[in-house]
Amino acid sequence: MSFDRLWADLEPVGRDAGSGGYRRHTWAGADTEARAWFTEAATARGLDVRADRNGNLWAWWGVPGPGAVATGSHLDSVPDGGAFDGPLGVASALAAVDELRGRGVAPARPIAVTVFAEEEGGRFGVPCLGSRLSAGEVSPERARGLTDASGVTWGQAMEAAGHDPAAMGADPGALADLDVFVELHVEQGRALEDTAHPVGVASSIWPHGRWRMDFTGRADHAGTTRLDDRSDPMLPFAHAILAARAQAERHGARATVASALIDPNGTNAVPSRVSAWLDARAADAASLEAVVDGVREAAAGAARDHGVGYAMDAESLTPLVEFSHGLRDRLAAVVGAGAPDPRVPLLPTGAGHDAGVLAAHVPTAMLYVRNPTGVSHSPQEYARPEDCHAGVLALADVLQDLLAR
Ligand code: GLV
Ligand code: MN
Ligand code: MN
Ligand code: MN
Repeated sequence: MSFDRLWADLEPVGRDAGSGGYRRHTWAGADTEARAWFTEAATARGLDVRADRNGNLWAWWGVPGPGAVATGSHLDSVPDGGAFDGPLGVASALAAVDELRGRGVAPARPIAVTVFAEEEGGRFGVPCLGSRLSAGEVSPERARGLTDASGVTWGQAMEAAGHDPAAMGADPGALADLDVFVELHVEQGRALEDTAHPVGVASSIWPHGRWRMDFTGRADHAGTTRLDDRSDPMLPFAHAILAARAQAERHGARATVASALIDPNGTNAVPSRVSAWLDARAADAASLEAVVDGVREAAAGAARDHGVGYAMDAESLTPLVEFSHGLRDRLAAVVGAGAPDPRVPLLPTGAGHDAGVLAAHVPTAMLYVRNPTGVSHSPQEYARPEDCHAGVLALADVLQDLLAR
């Protein structure tokens, strides 16, 4: 199957020889190489590759226009991420095009293979930035000013990569042309492994978001400053981390504190400032709000107790996504028809996806491919070759079915 060749070319792009992980950060290094791989692979298939105004890539089979069937994912990664989160959906989409052609399918409607930019928010902090810009959910003014860890703005990075930041913005026409969008993704949990299914279908995405926390104290000598005289931002930060865990346990949710910066980060000085991110996700909006409010109160109280300044600001918030029941049931029926077990699992997830952003604008569905480790956002993320093949065949079956409707 052509997937193997595609994967053999893509998988090494940006892989760290030590950890085995990836740092495909949008508009730089390995991400640029991966996008070049996509352009080359799609062009070699006779697809017409175009970048949209937000730097997302679209490879067209047929003339772009109304009634299009689109499939794809992203190529960027979290810091030291796995090989499959994103790239599997892109390589599988190209392989599904090959499969459809091999079956002699001559689509009466255009098909697009997509690559969305900055899905992970790994460089600029806002996840699904490319799709959110196109959907009009992030303004171009805000996007242009987002900075990476070294102060480079999204606008500058985009321009350096050859895209015009002045052209950025909502793209309602492009979304209106889509009849349906399907994203194939590696599963980021163990449900398919536990139930012995190679492929599943998404049911929903939990509401989730990111909040930036800043604690501002005063740098001081580690040996001579009495404890009572300190304004140490590490203390309320520690309270916030523990509160996140306790609140998540209490509400059956997920909460993670990471991406911390400690300044100036010496060993023999009280730091003057700590900034970090809270990532929180829950099955419903009320639980998510309760988790975030609980962390906010604990952090604010501890900051007061320890004489430290404190601020917490929402950076992104994605409401609950329920994928169209008609479409997901149809996918499950198509996938089940080709599988030994026709009862294809319908899976909720706490992970965000471009499909979740598009779902508010376009009928959207997702396929998941089994991940035997259950681990994701880590070099341990995995999908067996035979399951990747099953994913490509399932995606081809689904696209063929959707083209016929
Ligand atoms: C994206 O993978 C996310 O859910 O963080
Ligand atoms: Mn991810
Ligand atoms: Mn992903
Ligand atoms: Mn304390």
